[in-house]
Amino acid sequence: MQQPKRTDRHPPEDQESPVSFPEQRPRRLRRSPAMRRLVAETRLHPANLILPVFVREGLTEPAPISSMPGVVQHSEASLLRAAEEARDLGLGGIVLFGIPATRDATGSAGLDPDGILNRSIRAVKERVGDDLVVMSDLCLDEFTDHGHCGVIDEAGEVDNDATLEIYAEMGIVQAAAGADVVAPSGMMDGQVAVIRQALDEAGHQHVPILAYAAKYASGFYGPFREAVDSQLSGDRKQYQMDAPNRTEALREVELDLAEGADMVMVKPASAYLDILSDVASISDVPVSAYQVSGEYAMIEAAAANGWINRRTVITESLIAIRRAGATNVLTYYAAEVAGWLRADMAGAAASVSGPVSVAAPAQAPITPHTTSAAAAPTDAEPNAAEPRTGTGPTDEPRTDAGFPPVS
Ligand code: PBG
Repeated sequence: MQQPKRTDRHPPEDQESPVSFPEQRPRRLRRSPAMRRLVAETRLHPANLILPVFVREGLTEPAPISSMPGVVQHSEASLLRAAEEARDLGLGGIVLFGIPATRDATGSAGLDPDGILNRSIRAVKERVGDDLVVMSDLCLDEFTDHGHCGVIDEAGEVDNDATLEIYAEMGIVQAAAGADVVAPSGMMDGQVAVIRQALDEAGHQHVPILAYAAKYASGFYGPFREAVDSQLSGDRKQYQMDAPNRTEALREVELDLAEGADMVMVKPASAYLDILSDVASISDVPVSAYQVSGEYAMIEAAAANGWINRRTVITESLIAIRRAGATNVLTYYAAEVAGWLRADMAGAAASVSGPVSVAAPAQAPITPHTTSAAAAPTDAEPNAAEPRTGTGPTDEPRTDAGFPPVS
């Protein structure tokens, strides 16, 4: 790093000053929203966002999830509307999680072609066609009465290889239902290879596998357990990764790549950005990161208390995940943020073509985002116009997650 030096002009040569002035002024590139936009190294786009959605058998109305305010368990009808919205917003995709009415020791509802998950895949694909990538969670935990991601052996442990046989079948059933991508999340050794082989033999060579490659046993999954009405008691530490381990994540990723993973995932996201960065640096396939239920819940709780600016923190959290190396992010905020992005783009276009745009830059007034949202186009995602929570004193302009422009 260069030492700050006196410049020729400032202060004048003939004055003695104890202060030295910098030759390098990085602040030049930060002075206005337009300048910051020009030099931003990381961007968000709707296609970077993947929305996880829950569909629960037997619901006639969407049911709220108390630990995830704003997220619901969908009915089969409301799921279709959510999928259409995701398509209209141009999201990267959706991931379906099914919650069956009945469970058993082997998770057989997950293998039933007419079970809640598989029939929902079919219904969603019929509705959105090829205009939206529809992914399916390939795991047993939603379907087992013990809540584990695999079947249990006589010793009471999750039986890796017996589970693989079920995953293979599950992959075929999901692909047959129309899943564009299958996403095995159970962290069984060898799961990618077995699913790949099964898909290929069943004629589904074209269906990619998004491997939950480095998935950690995490307290951040807490609210998800409510979301899927999990039956789990205990933990998943015998199969999901251990938080202290970093090098091991590379081993998991390399194994999944060798087994034929088309995309790999790191999960959770925010507390594992080092892992994400490492994985992105070795992966030659797209890397996803999952901003999980607990990450969502923490932002919502703090925002609801007025302790953080909701929109700023959501945007910053997603940018951080992308900056660390994620090609795309699974996030419960996907639809809402895509709505913001679309409104911002439409607003920028309007300000370029509008008569007073030169004199009145869109970002100049420091207004709460409710106010500037009034200018949002009517086709914006409905939630985007109105913040659900957290309109506290720290509200900032909509399109810039940083600071007000220099006046
Ligand atoms: C397992 C699965 C889990 C999540 C996604 N898939 C739960 C777990 O592994 O315990 C968690 C997602 C979240 O917390 O948002 N099928």
